[in-house]
Amino acid sequence: MSMPTQHLFADAAGVTRAAGLLSDGALVAFPTETVYGLGALATDDRAVAEIFAAKGRPTFNPLIVHVADVDAARSIADFGANADRLASAFWPGPLTLVAPVRAGSGISKLVTAGLETVAVRVPAAPVAQDLLHAVRGPVAAPSANPSGRVSPTQAQHVLDGLGGRIAAVLDGGPCTVGLESTIIVADPVPQLFRAGGLPVEAIEACLGVPLALPAASNTVTAPGQLASHYAPAASLRLNATEPRAGETMLGFGAVAGDLTLSRTGDLIEAAANLFGHLHDLDARGVAQIAVAPIPNTGFGRAINDRLARAAAPRG
Ligand code: TXA
Ligand code: MG
Repeated sequence: MSMPTQHLFADAAGVTRAAGLLSDGALVAFPTETVYGLGALATDDRAVAEIFAAKGRPTFNPLIVHVADVDAARSIADFGANADRLASAFWPGPLTLVAPVRAGSGISKLVTAGLETVAVRVPAAPVAQDLLHAVRGPVAAPSANPSGRVSPTQAQHVLDGLGGRIAAVLDGGPCTVGLESTIIVADPVPQLFRAGGLPVEAIEACLGVPLALPAASNTVTAPGQLASHYAPAASLRLNATEPRAGETMLGFGAVAGDLTLSRTGDLIEAAANLFGHLHDLDARGVAQIAVAPIPNTGFGRAINDRLARAAAPRG
């Protein structure tokens, strides 16, 4: 089905319009500090089903529920001691907590893909906060890209990928973090599901214990672990110190490129630029990208995770 996609400026009128569309069961993409999300009212089965249709996403892949504050999060998920601690320390912010879904939460079963747990997050971006306060309900939102493609960090990326398939995009400018949230199960044993915009080291410092890595056989984590995820159209060669014939170089630090993630070797700047640069290289019609080595600490861990997925053989 094709429809005109409204491009809404994120002023008070735009936020009100976006909230009205969501409350009416329509799909609206909106900015968070991590990436743009494709939102639908999380209690509306039909609206949530349309997210999967618009993205071409396998229905077994559960969605993150976005709420305005910790109290709203507690009304849909049962938090243990570690989750409480992390929520007070890092919300609003780029952290998603997976916890048992609360009885009577009203969250659509399509959101949790039938699991007994739900992924919840309180985004920090002011536009996301304004929107969630105006909607007055939980908003399910995966990243606003066609399934398997690079996440959008600008409204134009959303329009390029999903224009004609969603009611509106609320344009709040570029995302400041530029990488998806870090996902963890906090209780009883803290476990990392996806490296992301909140460095693992910060979580470990808060809890005082190391995070367990996901078990390879754990099907719950499988969606985020699929090979060839976050993929640009071009092929990628990682840890390259210089381009080979036919390659376009994506640089970092001392390794200069046609596009460079951060000239000064700043991992935060590199994270914020990563998806935007991959989108730009796609837009230029580049076939092969060589990527400079990225240190595997702090934000570098999430950057390397996304690059490894983007470079994985295509299914
Ligand atoms: O930063 C973000 O997290 C962005 C913005 C829009 O909030 N959202 C995002 O959503 O990246 P998405 O759908 O692209 O990724 C959600 C991930 C998936 O890998 C999914 O498998 C996992 O969250 N997930 C959701 N519910 C889960 C659950 N109950 N247990 C384990 N993983 C879950
Ligand atoms: Mg995604």
